[in-house]
Amino acid sequence: MKSCFNLLRLIFCLFPVLAWSATTSNETAKPVKFAVLGDVHLGLRGEDKGFKMTASSERLIEITIDQLNAMNDLSFVVFAGDLVVNGESFNLSRFKEIADRLRAPYFVILGNHDQPMIPSDAAWADGKRTFYPGETKAGVATLFRGHGFGADGRTWWSADIAGLHIVGLDTVQIKNWGGMVPFQELDWLGKDLDSARSKPTIVFMHHNLIESHPEYKLWPEFLVENRDDVKAQLSSFPQVQAAISAHYHFSDFHVESGIQYFTTPSINTYPCRFAVFEITPKTLGMRTHLVGESGKNRTEARSIRAKAKEEIFKAEDWMGSVARELENHGKPYDQKSVEAAVRTLFETNSSVPDSPLRTAAP
Ligand SMILES: [Fe+2]
Ligand SMILES: [Fe+2]
Repeated sequence: MKSCFNLLRLIFCLFPVLAWSATTSNETAKPVKFAVLGDVHLGLRGEDKGFKMTASSERLIEITIDQLNAMNDLSFVVFAGDLVVNGESFNLSRFKEIADRLRAPYFVILGNHDQPMIPSDAAWADGKRTFYPGETKAGVATLFRGHGFGADGRTWWSADIAGLHIVGLDTVQIKNWGGMVPFQELDWLGKDLDSARSKPTIVFMHHNLIESHPEYKLWPEFLVENRDDVKAQLSSFPQVQAAISAHYHFSDFHVESGIQYFTTPSINTYPCRFAVFEITPKTLGMRTHLVGESGKNRTEARSIRAKAKEEIFKAEDWMGSVARELENHGKPYDQKSVEAAVRTLFETNSSVPDSPLRTAAP
């Protein structure tokens, strides 16, 4: 009787592991591929200037959608926030028209620019108003209902697709470009992950949980403020494999406690890239692609990308911001070293070799 009890106890203890094995060996036996587009920043009004290629933004997303539609093996696409310039309804409507052309199902999460901004005095000046009131986060979630967001009014979501469990968090703070996962959402996350222990899980959020390019210590205020709580939550569920963010417009990768943390690039900023992830039962990796690197739009895309390169290196505000960050963190700088830093940020870590998945509780 005692040995029977011990056997039952062993089976009970092993169950999560067995369920995980069944999931990885059957449902995701074939590699699953998905694309992530960070910081599309679609704007129907605006210039190609500095950090953002607003005048070219509509073509950049259209060309990318053509490219994604030519990939026959994508299971889904995630737009990782900052969909438009500043939450403008006309930009969001156009964004949706273009995104709806995707052949693969797509999901949307919110970025800090997917909410109304408070206008500057210059933008609000009588007679020369250039400010367009933006949609609220709830308004954006309603527009993209069925693309992650449900009818429950939440601005965060989860879904099961292609053998994976995917979670889309809302890390957006009102009036602030830094990130935060409020207590109510963190509580929901714990319950959601607890109910999905048998599925390999990927968590998407616009803001970052890990410093990107820590050698430069750039803009720490852009990270998720309560990142230690969020990371502790994620690492306590062994099925969580990766957290994928955007926001910085450049790409990077770190592993912490077995979880892979990715920062994905922007199609709207030099060198205009998007990310494709491939997950097998044992590994996960990221490759990036240049917008229009293949297909019928090659020549047009090459010229937009060349303009993006020209713009970022002559953008005084952007280069000045990098210089200030270097100075704030005690790094000597001059024009050359700022340019070198910008090159490193945007031109490295664009592809990440496959890393092993977590297979057991930490
Ligand atoms: Fe952005
Ligand atoms: Fe952002």
